Amino acid sequence: MNEKLRAFVKEKFINHKERYLHTCGVEEVAIELARIYDISLEKASIAALTHDILKYDPVLDQIKYLDEETISKFKDIPVMYHAYAAAAYIEKELNITDQEIIDAVKYHVWGRSHMTTLEKILYVADFAEPNRAFHEAKKIREIAKKDLDLALVLAMKSSIDYLIEKGIKPSIEQYEAFHYYEEVTRGKIK
Ligand SMILES: [Fe+2]
Ligand SMILES: [Fe+2]
Repeated sequence: MNEKLRAFVKEKFINHKERYLHTCGVEEVAIELARIYDISLEKASIAALTHDILKYDPVLDQIKYLDEETISKFKDIPVMYHAYAAAAYIEKELNITDQEIIDAVKYHVWGRSHMTTLEKILYVADFAEPNRAFHEAKKIREIAKKDLDLALVLAMKSSIDYLIEKGIKPSIEQYEAFHYYEEVTRGKIK
């Protein structure tokens, strides 16, 4: 599936082998979950392969794909640019026009409320793919096969906790998404 795209991504990460491995891991998990939750495997594969595509492009190149509002919104958190820029890049340069794929790529870092199944799958796969070193990855991967919303909210919580631990303030959007899915999965979070 998507061999041409995979070759393109491999070339793009020629000097970032770990990122290529991460991308392949995300694709593997995303396809597995897409099969379970009965959505397009093709779309899961494309979203996974492209979600970090601009991660190592210079910020000045990334922001070429962004409007002024997005640039200023994330000026103190430039790591966010790679997601929003990739969403615009795949549409403009790779002719990927499927809005679900574009949104999944765009919101893969923080998530949001009312996510599509593809958005949830990419978020969880990005967090929990097998090359991730942290111990929750495997647990969340297993939970995701049975309860995608629960896996999503646990991944969101873990990301928020990680930031707090590092002395970084999580964003309002992260909290909003987390609280939304906390509500969705009420009673299931331990
Ligand atoms: Fe990313
Ligand atoms: Fe990623």
